[in-house]
Amino acid sequence: MRKWQTIEKEAIADLETLEMNDLKAKVLESEYLRFESCDSTQNQLAQHKHLKAVMADTQTKGRGRLGREWISTKGQGLYLSWRPDLDHLRFKEIPYLSFLVAGVMADLLNRKYPKIDCCIKWPNDLLVGTQKLGGILCEVKTQGSDLDIVVGIGLNLRKQAFDTSISLEELGLVLDVEDLETVRWADLFLDQLIEAQSELMLGQFSVILERWRQYQIPMGTRMKQREIVGTYLGIDDFGNLRLRSEDGQIIQISSGEVQIASILPNLS
Ligand code: BTN
Repeated sequence: MRKWQTIEKEAIADLETLEMNDLKAKVLESEYLRFESCDSTQNQLAQHKHLKAVMADTQTKGRGRLGREWISTKGQGLYLSWRPDLDHLRFKEIPYLSFLVAGVMADLLNRKYPKIDCCIKWPNDLLVGTQKLGGILCEVKTQGSDLDIVVGIGLNLRKQAFDTSISLEELGLVLDVEDLETVRWADLFLDQLIEAQSELMLGQFSVILERWRQYQIPMGTRMKQREIVGTYLGIDDFGNLRLRSEDGQIIQISSGEVQIASILPNLS
């Protein structure tokens, strides 16, 4: 288990300008910080380059993909940001990281709870049925040829206020209260992610996509993106979504959000 340093403050000021004090010393000697509350773990990790991961009990400005808010009620979920160790990853290879994270998370959840049937909706929403259990946000900053990548992970642990979401607690699979502990989940995911990240550096993209495909939503699910409606045909080797439209055309989607119109498995 890694040592998470707990910070009771809302945010840490710019360390460069901060006088040496207890807080600064605490932060500088840690790699893993846990805030009782912060704006967004993404911001805190991006700001402090020596950290490997940041988690929070609650976030006041949690964010999701496509500029959405990620409601982060205290104690209801895991709010975690991780900085992968990916020196020399090429810019065009970054999309595989989000497939890696989604695949690893789905794999862990399905192994831990064999009855959960947690699926991935392209590109990286973790679903149970049509309800969202978790999400992933990959953010990249470039500085010259250097890439600073911060991966955000949200997992619903306790009852959620929205019909479109579901939590582990509501699924009734959790028998042990320790399974709702955020630090435990953070450690479990980080252990698996740190192990799997070498697949990226070794260029094993097919391994990453195969793991993802194992948990993808059923083939034939009806999906839509704005005016496009079609049945799900999986992803290609570059991670693009493939749909068959109603007039039989194959459509490739490389970005944005797709919604599930209805799950009608059609495996033919
Ligand atoms: C999504 O839209 O599905 C992605 C959600 C990612 C939420 C996590 S919670 C921890 C980290 N901090 C944030 O502000 N967002 C991510």
